[in-house]
This record gives sequence, structure tokens and C-alpha cells, in this order.
Amino acid sequence: MVIAIDGPAGAGKSTVARALARCLHYCYLDSGAMYRCVALEALRRDAGSVLEAPGALAELAAGLAIQPGDRVVCDGRDVTDAIRAPAVSEMASRVAADPGVREAMVAMQRAVMANGDWVAEGRDIGTVVAPDAELKIFLTADAQARAQRRARELGGDAEVVLAEQALRDARDATREHSPLRPAADAVELDTTDLDVEAVVGAIVALARTRSR
Ligand code: DC
Repeated sequence: MVIAIDGPAGAGKSTVARALARCLHYCYLDSGAMYRCVALEALRRDAGSVLEAPGALAELAAGLAIQPGDRVVCDGRDVTDAIRAPAVSEMASRVAADPGVREAMVAMQRAVMANGDWVAEGRDIGTVVAPDAELKIFLTADAQARAQRRARELGGDAEVVLAEQALRDARDATREHSPLRPAADAVELDTTDLDVEAVVGAIVALARTRSR
């Protein structure tokens, strides 16, 4: 069974998806970590020239050996911490708009999820990566609450996080290729006033009805 969890940054996807995978004994895929690996490598190779040359970003992405897991490994290097830097977040939302990069990442994600039971989180899991997923959840929360969560998680000023988040949200939601949007058959859950246990409990209950 595949459970797709999509939604904007800070809606609680990672926390909820990890807890859900643990609870159901499913594997967990953080697809955003893969876009972050592409971003980190683009920055390392000098973002300007990589972003400007047509097709170069897609080529870079397709050539990376990414192992998403508890520790994220890219081309043999442990990049778990490096991919969480603010500059990488910013670059990730840029590289994620490139159709060639998306094609390469979607192919890798489908290969990773080919066998077994998965909780996969991202922006396009229910719409593009796994349109046949048995359960699709679209997590939301109001922008202020999302920024506060991110600021608590990563440190920093909630107002600054809110402004950066608004830019990334707009880019993710308005890009031409696979923009962030709920799948037609997704269940929308607003997590603004819910704690992790409540959200996970609601999804587990839904999963039980789908797996019968
Ligand atoms: O979830 P995150 O913040 O780690 O994602 C990093 C960036 O990658 C973010 O700008 C959205 C993008 N992304 C995407 O376009 N599609 C996905 N399936 C996952 C992430």
C-alpha cells in the first residue's frame, strides 16, 4: 500500500509521515530531500552557470546517486544536515521547477517505491509520482502556524521564515510543471489546531478502511 502525503512547507508532512510509517511499519520516502540534493549539488557546482545552461540541471539531477533514508546520501556523501541549510531550501524550490529535474526525480522515486509499503511525502506524490496510491492526504495549516513551526524547528525569526515561506509557496504552487495542488481524490486535513498524534490517528483510521 502507498500513502501519499502532500502539502506546503511546514504543514507537518515530515513529522506526520515519519510517525505514520513507524506506526504502520511502512517504509518512508522524503521526496523533498531528493530535490534538496540536486539543489546542494547545483550550489556546489556554481549555481549561476548550472542554472543558465539549457538542460544542465536535468543532466546533473539524472546523474546523481541519491539514497533517501534516515541519513540522506548523495554520491556517497552524507548530506543529511547540509541539505537543510536555508540557501539549499531556496535553491530547491528553484530546481524543482525544472521539468527535466522533476522527470529524473519522479523516475528515482518510483524505482525506490517499486516494492513494499510506503508513506511518501512531497508536493506531487498523489498527483504525479503515485497517482494510484491507495490513500492520498493533503496536509495544510495556516501560513502563520507553518512559519512558527519551521522557525522552532530550524531556529530563526518567525517573521523572516514567514516571508521566505510565502515566496517558496508561491513558486511551488504556480510553477508550470507539477504545481503543488491536492489530487482530486485526496483527503484534506488542516493541522493548524491538531497535534501530531491526532493527525497520525486520523490517517491510520483512513488507512485501515482503504486496506480492507
Ligand atoms: O519538502 P521540502 O521543503 O524538503 O522540499 C524542498 C523543495 O522541493 C520545495 O521547494 C518543494 C520541492 N518539492 C517538490 O517540488 N516536489 C516534491 N515531491 C517534493 C519537494
